[in-house]
Amino acid sequence: METSGRSRLVTHCRVCGAADWQEVVSFGSVPLANAFLDPATSYEDEARFPLGVISCRSCRLMSLTHVVDPEVMYRTYFYVTSDSESITRHMRYVAQTCTSRFALGEDELVVEMGSNTGAQLLAFRPGGQRVLGVDPALNLAATANAHGVLTLPEYFSDRTAARIRNGHGQARLILGRHVFAHVDDLADVAAGVRRLLARDGVFAIEVPYALDLVERVAFDTVYHEHLSYFLVGTLAELFDRHGLRLFDVERLPVHGGSILAFVGLREGPWEQQGSVAELFAAEQAAGLHQDAAYGEFAHKVARVRQELPRLVRGLVAQGARVAGYGASAKGTTLLNICGIGADELQFCSDTTVLKQGKVLPGTHVPVCSPQSAAAEPPDYYLLLAWNYADEILEKERRFLDNGGRFILPVPEPVVLSAGARATTPT
Ligand code: TMP
Ligand code: ZN
Repeated sequence: METSGRSRLVTHCRVCGAADWQEVVSFGSVPLANAFLDPATSYEDEARFPLGVISCRSCRLMSLTHVVDPEVMYRTYFYVTSDSESITRHMRYVAQTCTSRFALGEDELVVEMGSNTGAQLLAFRPGGQRVLGVDPALNLAATANAHGVLTLPEYFSDRTAARIRNGHGQARLILGRHVFAHVDDLADVAAGVRRLLARDGVFAIEVPYALDLVERVAFDTVYHEHLSYFLVGTLAELFDRHGLRLFDVERLPVHGGSILAFVGLREGPWEQQGSVAELFAAEQAAGLHQDAAYGEFAHKVARVRQELPRLVRGLVAQGARVAGYGASAKGTTLLNICGIGADELQFCSDTTVLKQGKVLPGTHVPVCSPQSAAAEPPDYYLLLAWNYADEILEKERRFLDNGGRFILPVPEPVVLSAGARATTPT
């Protein structure tokens, strides 16, 4: 069911206001990445929305073509911050690096937007900071509160920021891990940050890096929740327009390639580091300020969309059992736009209890626990959570040693067997 009433076409750039877009890719109508379904419901009413990417010729923001009403996407939300080892380690790193770099004292206020079940804020507990979460998902905010992480069930906005300031004072740190790319009204969030941040406060955001998206052909990270795909140059321009300053950037391997960007008030004490100019230069060198690089990206995407289903269908035709590994949001994009579904995949294994017993959006592949998957392992796992490849291959050593294989979908499909030697399929 195409539900155009609950989405809007993007006309002007949410960073610079220009209306000169290059069309990059268009994936047709796709269900929401985290809208897992109950197998008992009728699939006929499943909502689908247009999914495509455009690039602003002025500031080079990569944006979705359509914005879906956030009330549809976030009020009940199945995405629980992964309790994977690598993410837990990373959250500890974020807390430690912010605490030591910005000399966060005990009792200073740390606010997190998109705080999910509160796992990142809990990492500040050893430092003794006061923490406050803000997350519109009513189910997740309730869980966070039950865990003792005070969480407002709201979107972070200028209004929310005013309320927080009145009730809790100014923040030394405002965090937004993998939430900034979900925001349509960036001016409103920036205004809230300005209002809430102490003069020497820091706004730290982690976003998927558009340079990595293009270089790794990670097109499956495109889904309705990710409205923006940022370059460092674009972020610098954005914050400059709102009285803020991007003063440092760190590249991270998280979620297939992300950046941790540090932002202060323009009149604040934080001076811009060399990292900002360095990454801006890398983006220029990669051609990301010209149309051609995006054309090339689209070409590579088209190749994966052709080769991956051919590979998977070929295996199934030979009698192999294939299943999905990790019911990630990017898996929804990948399967739906490659036309791989329940005819090819027997099931999809996932550690998230909330997803187990449901079916994947659009393809309706049943999600099961790793325990029941291990009872009847397939011959091949299509790795839909490839951002955790190292951790998962290590964990699934026995599956591999017993002759099982993994298919990695991007940047081009490869099959991995024991010894983890990649072989490009012919
Ligand atoms: P994410 O990339 O959005 O965090 O989603 C990854 C999904 O993969 C999430 O639903 C949890 C799942 N997963 C597993 O099933 N097994 C694993 O070992 C890991 C690391 C993740
Ligand atoms: Zn722009």
